[in-house]
Amino acid sequence: MQRKIITTSDGSKTIQIEDWNEQYHSIHGAIQEANHVFLKHGLLFYFELISKSNKNHTKPVEISILEIGFGTGLNAFLTLIEAENLKLSINYTGVEAYPVRPEEIKELNYIELLSKNYASAFGKMHSASWERKHKITSYFQLEKQQKFFQDIKNVDEFNIIYFDAFGARVQPNLWTEDIFKVMYNALKNDGVLVTYSAKGSVRRAMQAVGFKVERLPGPPGKREMLRATKHPKK
Ligand SMILES: C[S@@+](CC[C@H](N)C(=O)[O-])C[C@H]1O[C@@H](n2cnc3c(N)ncnc32)[C@H](O)[C@@H]1O
Repeated sequence: MQRKIITTSDGSKTIQIEDWNEQYHSIHGAIQEANHVFLKHGLLFYFELISKSNKNHTKPVEISILEIGFGTGLNAFLTLIEAENLKLSINYTGVEAYPVRPEEIKELNYIELLSKNYASAFGKMHSASWERKHKITSYFQLEKQQKFFQDIKNVDEFNIIYFDAFGARVQPNLWTEDIFKVMYNALKNDGVLVTYSAKGSVRRAMQAVGFKVERLPGPPGKREMLRATKHPKK
C-alpha cells in the first residue's frame, strides 16, 4: 500500500496510508498525541504509581513496555528521552509487521523538534537489527520484533502496553476480544494498556477479557481516550 509523509497540525510529520485515508498519528499533532496518550497517561502515570509504593527508593526503577505498532519509532523516541530525564531503566519491545523504510525515516522531523542531543540514539533505534535486544542508551534497551500482533505469546511480562494499531475503521480485527486477551496475558498484574481510541465497542471488548477501563480526556482533536488496567480478581 502507498505510504506518503505528511505534516500534522503541531508541525511534526507522520505517514499516511493514502488508500485508507489513515495516518500513523493524529493529523491534529503527531507529537502532541503521542505525548498525551502514551507518555502522560501511560509511562508517567505508571511511574508515579510505582514511585508512591517505592517511596524510599529501595528498589531500582525498571519498566517494561510493549508497543503495538513500532512504526516511525516516535513513541519509542519520546520514551527514550523521558527515560534519560527521569533516570529510569526501560526495556522496550516494539512489534511491527511492516517496518518503515530508511528513506521514509529520513523525512521525519522528530530529532529537530524533540532533541538534537539524541539524534544518534534515534538513528540507532532504527538501524538496530530485529529480534535482538540492543542497549540504545544507558537507560533504554530496545528489541524490535517483526511479526503480527496476533502472534504475541508473552505472559506476565510487561508493565505498560502502548496500543497504537491503526483505527478500528480500517483494521477492525485488531480491536477485538481475541486481541485484548493477548494483551491482557502479556501484562503483569497492575499493568496498564493505553490507547488513543475511545470507541464503546473497544471499551466493551477490553472489559470482556477482564480489564478495568477508564475514559480519560483525549489529545487535541479527540474528546476521550482509554486506559485499561489488569487487576485480576484474587
Ligand atoms: C498507527 S501505526 C503505529 C504508529 C507508531 N506507534 C509510531 O509511533 O509511528 C500502526 C502500525 O501497525 C502496523 N501493523 C498493522 N497491522 C499489523 C499487524 N497485524 N501486526 C503487526 N503490525 C501491524 C503498521 O505497519 C503500522 O506501523
